[in-house]
Formats: sequence, structure tokens, C-alpha cells
Amino acid sequence: MIDLAAARVQFGRGGVLLPDPVPAHPLLDGRKEIGRGEYSIVLDNGDGERVYKIVSSPADYFLYTADDRPRGEHFPTIHADHGIIGRAASGYPLHLIEMEKLYPLAEGSPAAELALRLIEAYWSGCQQWSRLGVNMGRIALYHMSLNPLAVGDKLQDAIRALSDFVDSYQVLPDILNANNLMVRKDGTLVFSDPVFIA
Ligand SMILES: Nc1ncnc2c1ncn2[C@@H]1O[C@H](COP(=O)(O)OP(=O)(O)O)[C@@H](O)[C@H]1O
Ligand SMILES: [Mg+2]
Repeated sequence: MIDLAAARVQFGRGGVLLPDPVPAHPLLDGRKEIGRGEYSIVLDNGDGERVYKIVSSPADYFLYTADDRPRGEHFPTIHADHGIIGRAASGYPLHLIEMEKLYPLAEGSPAAELALRLIEAYWSGCQQWSRLGVNMGRIALYHMSLNPLAVGDKLQDAIRALSDFVDSYQVLPDILNANNLMVRKDGTLVFSDPVFIA
């Protein structure tokens, strides 16, 4: 079993959280913050179905809004793009996205088992291709797209779609973090936050 926290630290991607406050905005007034990562803040919309996600990473913005973004059951459903609502200390604009509410992987669940297999395959690819530097993750994912993992046709299609997306948008895969893979209420594994920009 790989040590995910150690893997993140090795790539310089451990434990940093976006420092910015939630911008004042009518849609966000009184909403509870339920998640925060290195690039995003997630607020509950209160209906159990949708969240507001404030994204600072252009990679996330492309993934959630591009016409040619990957779709299908393993990608999040996006309900609305509410535009730019502020600017992060990093300098990037803060975009407000309304998307489906997702849930953490429950240990031992089928989705968690699938996620672990993906993460392990990705991690072993990264080790194999580490000499490629910044291209490592893209190449590791590309190889996963060429060599089916016996995770089912739809998930394999999703891996291929994600690989095509990181290639055409020149972003980097970010699936070494189990937080970036979540589930829908019905237990479907979803690539909730699978990309970043270095
Ligand atoms: N659609 C969602 N529904 C509910 N919680 C979410 C959703 N997306 C992300 N989160 C929560 O917010 C945290 C940060 O989101 P993430 O997408 O990983 O942002 P970042 O771009 O900062 O890495 C996640 O770890 C998760 O707990
Ligand atoms: Mg994340």
C-alpha cells in the first residue's frame, strides 16, 4: 500500500490550504463552508444536492466549464457558472461554480477500492516516468489510458477522457490525493478535482 501523504509531500503538494476568505456574494451569504483545498473553497447550498465551489485554479475552471470538458458518470455534473466573484491572493480570479454535491470515499467501499487501484497505478507510473519531470504525470496517465486496468469500461473511458483533457489543456493530473476522488450518493466514483496547474 502506498503512503498517500508521503507521496504528496514528495511532490511538494502536502497540506497547503487556500488562504483567501470567501468573497461577499449574494449566492454565498450564510452558506456553510464544507471543504477547502489548495485551490478551492466549497460551500454547502443546503439542499443536499448542490454545492457552490469557488475555484482559483484555471485548471479547475477549464475542467468544469470548457465545451469539450470530459463528461459522463465519472465526472461531476456542473449546474452553473456564476462568473468571477473576486481575486485570490495568488493573483488568479475566483470563479463561482454551482455543481453537484459529492461525498468522501468511505473506506472499504467499492468506489474506494476502485480509487485505490487508480491511485496505485498512477503512482507506479509516476515512479516509472519520474525522469520526465513536469511531463511525468501526463505520461503516467496516458499509459493508464492505453493499458486498461480492469476497472470497467466506463471508468476506463473516463481515464482516457481525462488523459485527453490534460493533454489538450496542458494541465497536470492530480489524482494522487484521495480527496480529489469522491462519490455520488449512489456510490459512483467521481473525478471531482483531478487536475491542477503547477
Ligand atoms: N462537489 C463537492 N461536494 C462536496 N464537497 C466537495 C466537493 N468538491 C470538493 N469538496 C470538498 O472540498 C475539498 C476541497 O475541494 P477540492 O476539489 O479538492 O479543491 P482543491 O482544488 O482546492 O484541491 C475536498 O477535499 C472535499 O472535501
Ligand atoms: Mg483537491
